[in-house]
Amino acid sequence: MNSKQLLVDALAPALAEHLSADEILNLIEVPKDTSHGDLAFPVFQLARVFRKAPQQIAADLVEELDTSNFSNVVAVGPYINVSLKREPVGATVVKEVLEAGDAYGNLNIGEGRNMTIDFSSPNIAKPMSMGHLRSTVIGNAIANIAAKVNYNPIRINHLGDWGTQFGKLIVAYKMWGDDAVIAADPVKELVKLYVDFHEVAEEKPELEEEARAAFKKLEDGDAEMIRLWTWFKDESLKEFNKVYDMLNISFDSFNGEAFYNDKMQPIIDELEAKGITTVNEGATIVDLEELNLPPALIKKSDGATLYVTRDLAAASYRKETYDFAKNIYVVGNEQSVHFKQLKAVLTKLGREWSEDMVHVPFGLITLDGKKLSTRKGKIVLLEEVLKEAVDLALEQITAKNPDLANKEAVAHQVGVGAVIFHDLKTERMNSFDFNLAEIVQFEGETGPYVQYTYARSKSIIRKYGKEISTDLTEAFGLTDDYSWEVVKKLMDYPRVVANAIERFEPSQVAKYAVQLAQLFNKYYGNTRILEDDAHLDARLALVKAMTVVLKNALGLLGIEAPEEM
Ligand code: ARG
Repeated sequence: MNSKQLLVDALAPALAEHLSADEILNLIEVPKDTSHGDLAFPVFQLARVFRKAPQQIAADLVEELDTSNFSNVVAVGPYINVSLKREPVGATVVKEVLEAGDAYGNLNIGEGRNMTIDFSSPNIAKPMSMGHLRSTVIGNAIANIAAKVNYNPIRINHLGDWGTQFGKLIVAYKMWGDDAVIAADPVKELVKLYVDFHEVAEEKPELEEEARAAFKKLEDGDAEMIRLWTWFKDESLKEFNKVYDMLNISFDSFNGEAFYNDKMQPIIDELEAKGITTVNEGATIVDLEELNLPPALIKKSDGATLYVTRDLAAASYRKETYDFAKNIYVVGNEQSVHFKQLKAVLTKLGREWSEDMVHVPFGLITLDGKKLSTRKGKIVLLEEVLKEAVDLALEQITAKNPDLANKEAVAHQVGVGAVIFHDLKTERMNSFDFNLAEIVQFEGETGPYVQYTYARSKSIIRKYGKEISTDLTEAFGLTDDYSWEVVKKLMDYPRVVANAIERFEPSQVAKYAVQLAQLFNKYYGNTRILEDDAHLDARLALVKAMTVVLKNALGLLGIEAPEEM
């Protein structure tokens, strides 16, 4: 049940000639001050067609309305304020949630169509840094929300596994590499080789030439080069997978940049044949000046392809393979020009589906006020941050609930959940600071707070110990303000889900989860839930409905909900 829809239905007959149902819906407001009712409809818009003063229109409309769903309908100046009948609405909503379970809030926006989502996509032979956290968790949440609205999400990890840096790595490896050392801590060692290469190349510039030659050999398919590259890649993937396992995130495809090596030529040929490219100092480019964009560099003068060339091939491959309805790229805002160029070149090629590509950018994270790439001169490894968060969570749990049986497992869910939640609760374009100790608190707008609210409500249900009936139409009886606020919030969930996917904004769901938890805690603080009176069943049903929605919302964000903590 949607509360606004109830008012739309009531107003529609009287306004049919002037406003569509959607227009009415868009006009309906939720008064800040709940004493003004649950919903308000402003009538200014109608002054012209009715040729009456707004106050008069409001007063007249009130006389005409079917008020069966409302306990109170009043004209207040140019507004119609209505209050819903709390008892039948509350009973219907709670019943709806309990009957639907996890399917509550499911929508059919996607109509079963495919949505490809390119996210995380780290560069191999480099550690996964905190910088990759955002793409990873935002992308995963978008995929979850997409599934809830009946898109079929396809999670793609477009690994950065190609480029001249692999020539450098191979040269460095040949000079200083030690297989045993690499096997022990691969990514760390590969980073070291890469850094060493740059240091030494300052004095010996001929190394750069060697690196280019090595990469050329790799591109030409030299068996030894391929063997090394594959090894570096496999070792890197193992490290990345440790982080993905901790985050409980999986992918449908790890086709990275290298996968497109043999898929670029047809597109380059087509670009040339259609006269879309020009040659500039030996390089092949697409001029995009009319769009105020820098030229897209398709091929260097030595024939090497580039990042955008591979993305052209990747987008085409995704269209052919998945026939996506939408193709999403969850990548930092600093790459926005790249994605504009990508789209522009595809548009020039006449690919109408380029309209369905969406770059979903996000802002930066700082750590304790400092830029993320360094902390005490070192790279901040995502894996270490997650482990630290789990340790902090364990400390808190040990202090609060020392006898908890599966402490370690819960600490994992809470620590990792805290990091994910903190990332997702901020609108994605806003930058934010990351202070682990604050994030893992059980109070405030944190993941652990939401999880704790969930666990606490589950413990009430356990204490009750009986089956909770969904047959509430008789004597629901909950009409107090505290339970009513929870009911209204539950009612709002489908709208929040729709909004989140429309804007690719998981923060909508995260904020909702905090608000629902806060309203619930107010309810909990002001109600004797387990009191044995006529409304006991109804109160438990409300508690259970809240747990269903809270767990679902956390799930959309990729966060687990421990039953006890
Ligand atoms: N590997 C890139 C990076 O770490 C991100 C790739 C994003 N995806 C894409 N199709 N370009 O910056």
